[in-house]
Amino acid sequence: MSCTLITFSPTGSTERTARILASAIAEHWETIDLLKPVSDLLFSADDLCLVALPSYGGRIPTLSAERLRSIHADGTRAVLLCIYGNRAYEDTLSELQDLLEEQGFICVAAAAAIAEHSIFREFGAGRPDNADIAELNLFGEKIRERLAAPNAGSLTVPGAHGSYKPYTNSAFVPAETDACVNCGTCRAECPTDAIGNTPADIDPTRCIKCMRCVSVCPTGARRPEPKLLAPLYERLKPLCTGRKANELFL
Ligand SMILES: Cc1cc2nc3c(=O)[nH]c(=O)nc-3n(C[C@H](O)[C@H](O)[C@H](O)COP(=O)(O)O)c2cc1C
Repeated sequence: MSCTLITFSPTGSTERTARILASAIAEHWETIDLLKPVSDLLFSADDLCLVALPSYGGRIPTLSAERLRSIHADGTRAVLLCIYGNRAYEDTLSELQDLLEEQGFICVAAAAAIAEHSIFREFGAGRPDNADIAELNLFGEKIRERLAAPNAGSLTVPGAHGSYKPYTNSAFVPAETDACVNCGTCRAECPTDAIGNTPADIDPTRCIKCMRCVSVCPTGARRPEPKLLAPLYERLKPLCTGRKANELFL
């Protein structure tokens, strides 16, 4: 069995969490990074893929969906992982399952796990923590058992199938501050090519607010305009409190 970890992880939490789960399932993993364009490829029935995406507004990020459509499968088994920032993941797993099945995958297991909210780090702060890591290892063991069981039943995950929650791209765009040294890292790393020749030149229609430019900036010069973020923060604060639980679906 050849194993491939497929991730879309602008600020790194999805990939970090996916690697914990992956290493509890199998030892060796190839990787596909959906932050970059993907050429058409086909997996076989002997392969296993772990597909890990963050939840954006309770949906899968649009760009990750576009890139996943280049990946085809011929009865390949898939494990789904959704990472979310302690609010809710709503239709993320159901949308991912639908898309992967359209591509020819057989979805055998899924998990939802919490990581720090990449826009507001205080939500889900410090997660995944040691308790999460122990639980993800346990999830990995159960998934391994599920993979070894012949003819196990079909996977059911929460969320609407087909009629997903509408997604609205937020209004704010991460802006550069005086600490910017014009090194070009944000431009090179932006998954949607939203940044032009100068750091201030951002196309708001291309920007998906994934926070990658904020997280890769070597001088910490990029951040969303606090004034524009304030209404979103006030709306999310009551929804992101308390410790949400990781979940496993087999
Ligand atoms: C544009 C955007 C939308 C998000 N929407 C949600 C959401 O609906 N629910 C939630 O709990 N977290 C939400 N988050 C938080 C991310 O799902 C979470 O921080 C995830 O760990 C980010 O993954 P990454 O570190 O791999 O980029 C959102 C983050 C961004 C940037």
